[in-house]
Formats: sequence, C-alpha cells, structure tokens
Amino acid sequence: MSQADQTDPANATVAETGHKVDWSTLPEDVFRVFEHRTAQNSAAYLLPTLKELQQRNPALTILDVGAGSASISASFANIVGPGGGRVTAVDINPVMLQRGKKLLADRYGVPIDGEDWITFLTADGHHLPFQDASFDIVHCHQVLAHNKGQAEILREMLRVTKPGGVVAAREGDMETEVFWPPLPGLLKFHEDLEVRVIRARGASTQSGRQLLSWALEANGGDRSKITTSFSVWSYSEPEERKMWAAGMVNGALNNPQVRESNIKSGILEADMDEMRDAWLEWQDRDDATLSMVQGEVLIKK
Ligand SMILES: C[S@@+](CC[C@H](N)C(=O)[O-])C[C@H]1O[C@@H](n2cnc3c(N)ncnc32)[C@H](O)[C@@H]1O
Repeated sequence: MSQADQTDPANATVAETGHKVDWSTLPEDVFRVFEHRTAQNSAAYLLPTLKELQQRNPALTILDVGAGSASISASFANIVGPGGGRVTAVDINPVMLQRGKKLLADRYGVPIDGEDWITFLTADGHHLPFQDASFDIVHCHQVLAHNKGQAEILREMLRVTKPGGVVAAREGDMETEVFWPPLPGLLKFHEDLEVRVIRARGASTQSGRQLLSWALEANGGDRSKITTSFSVWSYSEPEERKMWAAGMVNGALNNPQVRESNIKSGILEADMDEMRDAWLEWQDRDDATLSMVQGEVLIKK
C-alpha cells in the first residue's frame, strides 16, 4: 500500500480499481517493505496493553484486520501463541494472506500445518464474519487510510471486541511525509502517485491526525475510553533506504501493470522515469531521509 502505506507501493497502484489490483503480480521488493513490519516496530503503542491483558489471561485472542501479508499478525502470534493465545488474520485480498503462512514458519519456526497459533480468512473490515465480543484485541495497521467509512470499520472492530478488550489502530498521515533531499522526482511521486491516488479513492491523506475523530465517531463520543499517540515512520538508514526505494521503484514505477494504470490516470512515461531516477539517487545518498507521522489510537471496550 503506498508509499507507504498510504504509501505502500501496492496501494499506490489502485487508483481506479480500488483493491481489485492483481496483487499476485507485485514484485518481491514490495512485499519486503510490508514484511519488514512486526508488532515491535509497528504496534509498540499497543504492547504495554497487550502485556497487561496477557497477564490477566495468557490465552489472548487477537484479530488483525487488513493484515496484508500478515507479518505483524505473525509477530503477535509469536507473542501470544506459547501461552495458548490465538491470532486471526483477515484481509480483503487473499493473495496477501497466503504469504503470511509461510512467513510464520520462516521467521518464527512455527510449522504451517503443525500449529494453530494463527488462522487466515478473507473478509472485509466493514463486515467482519464474527459474532459480537469474539476477541480480546482487534488491531489494524495502515488500513483505514485506504477506505471510505473509516469510523464504520472501527465500529465493526469494536463490535467484535470483548468487553474489557481493546481496539488498536495506527494510520500514516500522508501529508506529513517529508524527504531530504527534496528531489523534484520524489516530490512529483508524493503528489501524483501517493496523495492523488488516495484522494481519487475517496480516502484520506490526513488519516494520522483524523484517527481520533473516527475513533470518537465509532465509540459514541466517549473520549475517556480512548488513548491517542503519535509516532514517526523513518526510512533513513542505508538498508531501510534501499528496501524502501526498491519497493517504490519496482512496485509503482517499473511494474508494467502499475505503469499502465498510472498512464490511464494521466501520468506521463517521462514523469515515471524521473520519479524512478530520483528514488535511485535518494537510496544512495548518505544525507537522504524519509519520515512520516503516524497516528495511533487505543479504544477500550
Ligand atoms: C497497507 S496494507 C497493510 C497491511 C498490514 N496491515 C501491514 O501493515 O503490513 C493494507 C491492507 O489492508 C487491506 N484492506 C484494505 N481495505 C480493507 C478492508 N476494507 N477490509 C479488509 N482488508 C482491507 C489491503 O488488502 C491490504 O492488504
């Protein structure tokens, strides 16, 4: 999903087709960006609450909505699985979830068919196929920004959360994404492939700062049950820059399916070449940085 996630490279491609893009054609470099994510680096704001709930009940149940290739779900499973906890990963796109099974085995040594620490299901966050009060923790990361009706998704997540449990969400704020150096090709990429794509989808480029307002809409306006925080996404160390640039170049600029979709939405071949060259220059410069503010909420049920 687009530059990040708003910006996640895969989402950068779906201006006209919503989530119907054929994710199976996306290159490994795009998945590498997603699969770099863990509970520790992407849901740190939730971990103290998770530990607290786990002390009361070691067999925690976690639902990860819009789990993608499920690297965060797998890392949740690695935390709660040994104590009898279970993770359910759902995504609207089945291609993404298939990768999660392999990841759990490769990264954490949990045999794909030998354990039931994690299960995968195709489902839309607007209509979760679970009964009320089914999970202790219901989590999403970089999902609301790609949707209309963000508060409805949070409301649905609250519905399936047990009393005493928590909904956790983290969303990037695309308008706070900044680069150094300000190469014209990168600025063009930000405006034409990220901001424009999200707006065309009717979603929000200010999700980080809007998240609390959606949480209030979802829980009937009870501010006392919501904690909000902000963290910063940074892809500035040499290895991070390489991973990020490869995701952008091969996901959004070199992929023929995506190029075709970009051309249909009015982006010139020459502009895409300029963007690609800018990412390649950026990845190799020692002074290069990228950061973006992330909004976070915890909603107690
Ligand atoms: C940017 S990716 C994030 C994936 C994962 N949460 C992570 O952070 O790596 C967004 C994911 O949300 C999924 N998604 C978007 N809208 C959804 C919806 N309404 N219901 C379920 N999944 C959705 C997409 O298919 C995609 O896999």
